[in-house]
Amino acid sequence: MEPQNNKDLKSLESLETLPQEILNQDALLKNAEMLLDTMLDFKELMLVYSCAIKEIRTKLEILNKEFEVKNSRNPISSIHTRLKSQTSIMEKMARKGFAFTRDNIENNLNDIAGLRVICSYIDDIYLIADALTSQDDIELIEKKDYIENPKPNGYRSLHLIVTVPVFFSDITKIVRAEVQIRTIAMDFWASLEHEIKYKKHIKNPEEIADKLKKCSDVISYTDSMMQSIRSEIDNTPGESSEEDIIFEKLKRYDKSLGE
Ligand code: GTP
Ligand code: MG
Repeated sequence: MEPQNNKDLKSLESLETLPQEILNQDALLKNAEMLLDTMLDFKELMLVYSCAIKEIRTKLEILNKEFEVKNSRNPISSIHTRLKSQTSIMEKMARKGFAFTRDNIENNLNDIAGLRVICSYIDDIYLIADALTSQDDIELIEKKDYIENPKPNGYRSLHLIVTVPVFFSDITKIVRAEVQIRTIAMDFWASLEHEIKYKKHIKNPEEIADKLKKCSDVISYTDSMMQSIRSEIDNTPGESSEEDIIFEKLKRYDKSLGE
């Protein structure tokens, strides 16, 4: 490029007087610094999302513990969390046609912080979802009920996009997270279906999709039956003796609160 004015010319002249080695080193250092800044910025962003996961996980664990102490039963069977990988973030941003900037990532991706909550019974899914989203600091952004309205392939799950505040030393960040809540059976189905999606050389994809859809229907029936038996047991007044009741309460009292 031709120098545009005297100032440019001057700077070029002064650059020419520097030994080439130093020039190269200088440019290299500048590049390294810029790259490191971007990497650190990304790391900071990921820290924010990993803290949001911790906040929501703690909320879910508290709800589970509260229910256990009050009702001698855990609505949550397990919680799995994941921070979206850098490769997946880049792939999704490219697919959606967004430039890879911090603002674009924060404004357009809802699932960098992901939590999957596995419940035993269908009612527990809604119990946990309602208890979580009615907390003062949680805002529900979007709800997709694939249990009421399953996907055509048979996928069932309740999806929530929520925000949670994360408190740092100098700033409070409002962070988005995706919470998927489903039963053990729905999760079993989704993991196999997910696995098959990535298998390239399946000979009979239609047949497999058909079988999976049938399994999903069976699972849905089983989940409903299990729920109905559970509700029946819960609503049947027991014929326990006074001793049984005291013993039951002692068992509840003795149960560890866990740290
Ligand atoms: P993305 O797929 O993440 O772009 O978002 P979306 O707007 O399509 O949201 P949706 O709620 O449909 O899906 C979000 C996540 O739910 C996915 O990333 C999967 O983890 C899971 N999911 C959705 N549909 C299916 C499905 O058919 N099978 C399986 N195994 N998982 C699914
Ligand atoms: Mg999708």
